[in-house]
Amino acid sequence: MSLFSYQNLKKILFKLEPETAHLLAGFGLRTVAHCPTVLRLIKNKFFITEPIITQEIFGKTFQNPVGLGAGFDKDGQYITAMPTLGFGFTEIGTVTPKPQDGNAKPRLFRLIEDSSVQNAMGFNNKGKDFMLEQLKKLYFFDYPLGVNIGKNKLTSEDDALNDYEELFRAFKDTGDYIVINISSPNTPGLRDLQNEKFINDIFALAKEITSQPVLLKIAPDMSKEDAIALCKTAVDAGAAGIIATNTTIDYSLTDSPQKQDFGGISGALLTEKSYELFRAIGEELYGKTLLISVGGIDSAQEAYRRIKAGASLVQVYSMLIYKGPSLIKEINEGLVELLQADGYKHISEAIGADWKDKK
Ligand SMILES: Cc1cc2nc3c(=O)[nH]c(=O)nc-3n(C[C@H](O)[C@H](O)[C@H](O)COP(=O)(O)O)c2cc1C
Repeated sequence: MSLFSYQNLKKILFKLEPETAHLLAGFGLRTVAHCPTVLRLIKNKFFITEPIITQEIFGKTFQNPVGLGAGFDKDGQYITAMPTLGFGFTEIGTVTPKPQDGNAKPRLFRLIEDSSVQNAMGFNNKGKDFMLEQLKKLYFFDYPLGVNIGKNKLTSEDDALNDYEELFRAFKDTGDYIVINISSPNTPGLRDLQNEKFINDIFALAKEITSQPVLLKIAPDMSKEDAIALCKTAVDAGAAGIIATNTTIDYSLTDSPQKQDFGGISGALLTEKSYELFRAIGEELYGKTLLISVGGIDSAQEAYRRIKAGASLVQVYSMLIYKGPSLIKEINEGLVELLQADGYKHISEAIGADWKDKK
């Protein structure tokens, strides 16, 4: 283990308040982003690309299927550092129309013995104009990018569509896909928008404004039947894909002394719940829309399980905090091995393998 290994860095980061550690990591990434030579050196260490895991999606080349989940880069300030950490794509946001501070601190907790995270951030972000400024600076940087959008806390549910309209207009020509986030637990009433009428209205609106692929991100805290019905409604209304899942509010998952009964839990505690819901959606919707699986992914085996259940892409957030960027490399290298061991020539043959014989 080298002196500069993540396990050594983690010892320092874990002594800090979680949010301070996040800010420090962000500062590091922004600093490194200004040093192309350092970026290249680290990228050579962590970034894996092989034809067997490279895909064309939304007209873009994804050099590997492992992306960064939304919420880490809320303002689009770390995009150029993401390939360096090994990710094949990144999702920025959630961004709201106006800047907002988010919920009161402390609002981010490590559940260390559960390898999990609990957060009640509440869409703290600098707003759409700031993010657009960041994106303008990336004119020549060609990398798959999703923009995850949400309403401001002070916007009522009745006016929520206006916020999303503003965001569709703002981001209609940027990035490679847009994600409608109505599944975070930390904006009061947001998850109530996960209903048929709102889904139909918002995708109709999106269609009028943008030709970008628009995806829906859903919560894990609903029955399989409700989730499938919601996703089907979204796909019929024009969704280009489904991202499952966001964090859970099932606090019974842990007895951790650090547990708070607010916010959303992610990481290892979410793995099974997220997989089970994703699998149900995959059985129903694989082949009909693009599926992205996120929630407690911590190994190549777990990512492969999601792929076989129908995921074209996977995302990681919380386990990056525990394992560092070597995890992303480990997942990509492991995927190549698992695909080859099963005799697949390309990842596309394994996507939805659980259902292929049944359809
Ligand atoms: C601190 C934190 C902030 C997050 N913020 C957002 C967000 O702004 N928008 C969003 O769609 N998801 C957000 N998420 C959820 C993640 O994108 C992901 O769906 C969830 O954490 C499950 O994946 P994981 O177990 O790999 O973390 C956040 C997660 C964490 C831990």
